[in-house]
Amino acid sequence: MSSLNLPIETDHLILRPIERSDVEAVGRYHILPSVQRYVERPTRYAEDVAAAVAVMRAQIVLHRPGDTLTLAIVRKGDKVLVGQVSLQWSNASAGQGELRFCIDPAHSGKGYLTEALTALIDLAFDHFRIHRLMARCDGRSHHSIKLMQKLGLRLEAHYREHALFQGEWDEELHFAILDREWRPSTKVVDFRPRSAAPDLPRAAI
Ligand SMILES: CC(C)(COP(=O)(O)OP(=O)(O)OC[C@H]1O[C@@H](n2cnc3c(N)ncnc32)[C@H](O)[C@@H]1OP(=O)(O)O)[C@@H](O)C(=O)NCCC(=O)NCCS
Repeated sequence: MSSLNLPIETDHLILRPIERSDVEAVGRYHILPSVQRYVERPTRYAEDVAAAVAVMRAQIVLHRPGDTLTLAIVRKGDKVLVGQVSLQWSNASAGQGELRFCIDPAHSGKGYLTEALTALIDLAFDHFRIHRLMARCDGRSHHSIKLMQKLGLRLEAHYREHALFQGEWDEELHFAILDREWRPSTKVVDFRPRSAAPDLPRAAI
């Protein structure tokens, strides 16, 4: 595998490793109650945010299963950090990975996660040769569900009332996509053996 070239540039965003100086920007959305349930560790106070940023700063390579790559989503024009995306390599032999995402609600609805996750999925399938990617999202978050569907992920499971979050039942949806399902229109793969009969007109197949 070739070495990973960071940052990644998309039309409107830069995806780069988290930096020490990101504590304030990350803190702006991590401590919001509406975001708390989606972050891996509770970040209620400044020291929690600093600890979370320290963990994310170390998430820069996928060398072995269990490793995570976390990238800050930074707007190109003004360099404002609007959220973060992560790719975890969960299993090597079966090529499994997990996407995680979080955006500052002040910057939601602008297409940033669609753009950032598209780049991360490209990276997972093309660079890291992941076979199947899954993502978890809140069953009550209609926008997250639309985001998953827009990206082409399939709903595979709905965990009903599987956990309590601040006294409320949590509904968790699991979405997934295989490498061959990702943008099938642009990635044409011919699985037929070379000796197969010559092409028949489509309508006759
Ligand atoms: C759901 C969420 C994560 C989506 O991220 P986002 O950057 O806003 O997503 P995008 O702008 O790329 O939009 C993706 C789709 O979500 C829907 N959507 C997102 N925000 C929307 C809004 N404010 N109003 C209407 N639709 C919205 C749209 O259907 C959109 O598709 P469309 O542009 O084709 O209509 C974000 O809106 C959100 O709620 N963040 C809160 C905290 C968080 O990070 N949660 C993680 C959930 S697991």
